[in-house]
Amino acid sequence: MGAAIFCWRAQQHPERLLIGYETKTKATRLFLARIERLHLTNLWVSDDDARFNLPRVIPDGRVDLFHIFFPDPWWKEQHRVKRLFSPPFVDLLAAQLKPGGLLYFKSDVQEYGELVRDLVEQHGAFAAHDPSLAAEVGATAPTHREQWCQRHQKPVFSYYFQRR
Ligand SMILES: C[S@@+](CC[C@H](N)C(=O)[O-])C[C@H]1O[C@@H](n2cnc3c(N)ncnc32)[C@H](O)[C@@H]1O
Repeated sequence: MGAAIFCWRAQQHPERLLIGYETKTKATRLFLARIERLHLTNLWVSDDDARFNLPRVIPDGRVDLFHIFFPDPWWKEQHRVKRLFSPPFVDLLAAQLKPGGLLYFKSDVQEYGELVRDLVEQHGAFAAHDPSLAAEVGATAPTHREQWCQRHQKPVFSYYFQRR
């Protein structure tokens, strides 16, 4: 999600447990330092690959909301293995969300947004993208990448999906 936004969200919702993923060790260390500075106890961070760590730490049917913001699209064929979204990853999100749980996805890469929308909407467990779900997700502040988009006047593509 982005460390600052994640910490802010954890402060806004002390009743929730948030789990964040960032594979860059340096970024994860800075993230942990911020969590400690703010004395947050409802925010955990892992430097493991979310695709492989999520099923090891979260039982199925327990997640209320996934925020997935600006994942790298990895277009080149030789990098495709690094891409977060694939049919098995959507299976994982579907398995881990509670019925009625939400997936909130943002990207500044239009084609990646469309690919994610296709993958999620073709999966029988999710209803079609519905912007009115923004109210249920609640307030979020722009991430680091989103601030960059705002400064450079680049559009951001947001998608909201609900687990059936
Ligand atoms: C383009 S950056 C966006 C960061 C932040 N969400 C933002 O909006 O500013 C994508 C981040 O996702 C992390 N990442 C990519 N694949 C990941 C994975 N499978 N598990 C955890 N983190 C991942 C990368 O290390 C990178 O820092």
